[in-house]
Amino acid sequence: MAPKPRLGFLGVGWIGRHRMQAVLDAGLGEACAICDTSAQMAAAARDLAPDAAMMDTLEALLDTGPDGVLIATPSALHARQSIRALESGVAVFCQKPLGRDAREVAAVLDAARRADRLIAVDLSYRHTRAMQAVRDRIGSIGAVFAADLVFHNAYGPDKPWFYDPELSGGGCVMDLGVHLVDLLLWTLDFPAVDTVSADLFAGGSRISGKTDVVEDYAVVTLGLEGGATARLACSWRLHAGCEAVISATFYGTEGTLVFSNVGGSFYDFVAELRRGTRSETLLSPPDAWGGRAAVDWAERLAAGCGFDAEAERLIQVSEVLDRVYASARKS
Ligand SMILES: NC(=O)c1ccc[n+]([C@@H]2O[C@H](COP(=O)([O-])OP(=O)(O)OC[C@H]3O[C@@H](n4cnc5c(N)ncnc54)[C@H](O)[C@@H]3O)[C@@H](O)[C@H]2O)c1
Repeated sequence: MAPKPRLGFLGVGWIGRHRMQAVLDAGLGEACAICDTSAQMAAAARDLAPDAAMMDTLEALLDTGPDGVLIATPSALHARQSIRALESGVAVFCQKPLGRDAREVAAVLDAARRADRLIAVDLSYRHTRAMQAVRDRIGSIGAVFAADLVFHNAYGPDKPWFYDPELSGGGCVMDLGVHLVDLLLWTLDFPAVDTVSADLFAGGSRISGKTDVVEDYAVVTLGLEGGATARLACSWRLHAGCEAVISATFYGTEGTLVFSNVGGSFYDFVAELRRGTRSETLLSPPDAWGGRAAVDWAERLAAGCGFDAEAERLIQVSEVLDRVYASARKS
């Protein structure tokens, strides 16, 4: 049997430790090193992997010779740290967003292509069974002419770095809208996006021009190749009446497909197919999807996969986000 890949874990805060646990529980790799600037977070991660070396820097972590590194640091660091790992010949699984703009994302993809190393990003909702059921059936609802995608989070991030655009790249669009843009394009097989218009708000006031404030409410309209329209809305700390409102609805000439959360849950989703006044449930909870993107990457790493050109799609998603911010700055 081939030895398990040796894995390094860079940034082991909330999501980093969750993904670390998922990959180790799946038996897909051995934790060789952990690095976090917070001693408290590093110690908590060591509970999951007592034999892993504790390292102070990414350089020291790379010196332990990992096959892959899982990155879950603040967003501004993702591109730089991914490129450093890839240039050392190490595969990368990075939290979203891979970069704060398309230029950063493209630079990471260049590094991965050059090094022929596997790169994947934690676009976790793609890995829900409910979203997969919607995507699998998208051809059964005729011509898709409209889509409505929503991610309202009644809470906001509790770490200060999320509110500094230099460190986060943006507010709820960068944090939650990235999932919506990705789900839209992935479900429709990546049509070109012809037009983008966006309205961004912070604390109830419209944001326009250049600003140091991150948005906490956004409505975005995308015009897609072939004439379809998509409306995206996302927010932090909305008076939503529940913890979260998450959905992706695709309207076709012969039916509607819906992915939506159940009872305000962050974790439970259903998929439905609607025709006229009838509705058929395609998938319902439970579904333990949270760590699946990381596990999928680790499986492919263990199988010896190198660069996967599918990852180039990440640039298109990031370009749409760039256009969202550019549109709001103009308004
Ligand atoms: N895929 C998803 O659905 C999803 C969900 C939640 C968060 N995220 C993303 O995960 C990332 C982390 O979010 P979080 O909520 O876990 O944040 P967090 O602040 O809890 O974790 C970040 C960790 O990185 C550490 N860190 C900071 N600088 C470092 C450095 N230079 N080297 C090593 N460690 C460093 C911090 O000490 C902290 O422990 C964000 O980019 C966020 O957007 C993705």
